[in-house]
Amino acid sequence: MANFDHLAAELEQLKADGRYRPLTVWDSGSDIWMELNGRKVLQLSSNNYLGLTNHPDLKQAAIEAIETYGVGSGSVRTITGTLRIHDELERELAEFKGTEATLVFQSGFTTNQGILGTILGPEDVVISDELNHASIIDGIRLTKGNRKIYAHKDLDQLEQRLKENGSFRSRVVVTDGVFSMDGDIAPLPQIVELAENYDAIVYVDDAHASGVLGRNGKGSTDHFNLHGRVHIQVGTLSKAIGAVGGYMAGSQVLKDALIHKARSFLFSTSQPPAVAATCLAAIRVLKNSPELTERLWSNTNYFRDKLHKLGFDTGSSETPIIPIIVGTPARTMQFSDKLLEEDIFAQGIVYPTVAMDKGRVRLIVTANHSQDDLDFALDRLERVGRHFALI
Ligand SMILES: Cc1ncc(COP(=O)(O)O)c(C=O)c1O
Repeated sequence: MANFDHLAAELEQLKADGRYRPLTVWDSGSDIWMELNGRKVLQLSSNNYLGLTNHPDLKQAAIEAIETYGVGSGSVRTITGTLRIHDELERELAEFKGTEATLVFQSGFTTNQGILGTILGPEDVVISDELNHASIIDGIRLTKGNRKIYAHKDLDQLEQRLKENGSFRSRVVVTDGVFSMDGDIAPLPQIVELAENYDAIVYVDDAHASGVLGRNGKGSTDHFNLHGRVHIQVGTLSKAIGAVGGYMAGSQVLKDALIHKARSFLFSTSQPPAVAATCLAAIRVLKNSPELTERLWSNTNYFRDKLHKLGFDTGSSETPIIPIIVGTPARTMQFSDKLLEEDIFAQGIVYPTVAMDKGRVRLIVTANHSQDDLDFALDRLERVGRHFALI
């Protein structure tokens, strides 16, 4: 076992199934066209929804923060790792989200871990959509709370679970705001209504809705005008916001409890100041640039409409996440590889992340794709799609 023989055997099996993926090493930063081994490749798989990774205001903010604070925070938040820039970010973020408070973590993943571990004990029950993100699934596993699953967006089943679990101290309904593999939107108004009927807490993870849904990208609660009725909003600073990090937006009581109890907050060093400054600059850009989200949506609608006209199956996508369903893992990866030969990067997503026969390339449209970029992609997708008899 010292040679990790069992892991080597698993890797061989992945190769046999067509699911083995070495890391792709890019020679340029996150952008629309990226350099790969001396070639320019059109990027259709990045979460950089608004193109903020290269925004001049964000770069400037990072540089200035390094000059002011240095490169690291030196500690966890509860010791010397809360610098003025972290506090400013949380205040402006709360104002942006319209909540009493926010608390920033190092990533969206650790935000879910920290919150779930804080709010769920053996007296509580969490009721979770079956397609929720891995960070929610793992976050729940780390708690002593009781776990119930409901079929994807199945409101009848959700109601059943709420009915069956009335005796717990608290019921927490948790859902992704935008589902990361299919790009569909959670039925939040109906979830909120059910939760209100059964006295449950509503927890929405807006990783793929932050910067995407709602006015100026304020998220799904704003999109559905549910202010004050969603108790816990999670956002990520790693996707549309262009840097890295995650946050809870909600009540001051919850924030205080997290500061005292959330293990991923307590036992891991805080964001470097340049990252916090970058996120703050990004929130300011979002506030002042509604045209970014408008462009994201007009590109999304254009692209998805054209894919449908070509005959592609894009599943239940309603957002800039647009999967093209291909089939088995091996075929999906061959499709992705063929697209790369045609200068398109479209990441294949296969079992166990999605069902065995639902392998897909997950396309993500961004605000910065030009019409020419999208038409180029459509032309190549059509050619490769015909080759694979997908259309
Ligand atoms: C729904 C959801 N939650 C959380 C995360 C994790 O966010 P981060 O990349 O900031 O850790 C993701 C990322 O894919 C996500 O899709």
